[in-house]
Amino acid sequence: MGPLREGVGTHPMAASDEVVLELAKSEEAALLSHLLELYLHDLSEVFPIDVGPDGRFGYDRLPLYFEEPGRRFPFVIRANGHPAGFALVTRGSPVTQDPTDLDMAEFFVVRRYRRSGVGRTAAFALWDRMPGHWIVRVSEGNRYGLPFWRKIIAEYTEGAFSARTLPGSPHPWLVLGFQSPRGEPRPGATGG
Ligand SMILES: CC(C)(COP(=O)(O)OP(=O)(O)OC[C@H]1O[C@@H](n2cnc3c(N)ncnc32)[C@H](O)[C@@H]1OP(=O)(O)O)[C@@H](O)C(=O)NCCC(=O)NCCS
Repeated sequence: MGPLREGVGTHPMAASDEVVLELAKSEEAALLSHLLELYLHDLSEVFPIDVGPDGRFGYDRLPLYFEEPGRRFPFVIRANGHPAGFALVTRGSPVTQDPTDLDMAEFFVVRRYRRSGVGRTAAFALWDRMPGHWIVRVSEGNRYGLPFWRKIIAEYTEGAFSARTLPGSPHPWLVLGFQSPRGEPRPGATGG
């Protein structure tokens, strides 16, 4: 099921459930900061990250998402009007040379809405909304992210994506690359 209009779609829990992806406003920085804490707690299963003395992980780069509008893009995901996750996107990726590449820096869905298609609907809406060559990096130790990205990128691209492995600690990184929106030919793509 694709988005019904830009940034909006339904997920399979119920016909009335609505998933909306919106660029965050600066007044939503605190909302993102709180959701980032939940995300980082999940990631601390994979990476040895500690909470600081104030009991928070903290995400130092968050203010940059409101200061560099052409380079960093913060999105909030809502389901039935409730905050349900976020996507942080950068123009330029740490693993490629092309400064126009779009990189999925962080992506999160709260547990309440997992496995109901919210992540898939939001990611598809994001890729449709931001055309370009996308890079998604995921740790091979991420038991949520690894099967999710593999499944939905294969579906979105109908198999027309690249995959490579980079060394990482404590696990290697899987780096997936593809062109959006759907159906656009990717330069040099073989289609498989
Ligand atoms: C990864 C994450 C965003 C998935 O969000 P979600 O809304 O639950 O994903 P969806 O419901 O859209 O899943 C789509 C498909 O991906 C696959 N998938 C998603 N989560 C999975 C999991 N935990 N295990 C196995 N497959 C999974 C399934 O094939 C699923 O379809 P199905 O439920 O019909 O089988 C969410 O689990 C999350 O935020 N995890 C913590 C943060 C994180 O790891 N982010 C990614 C960083 S790279």
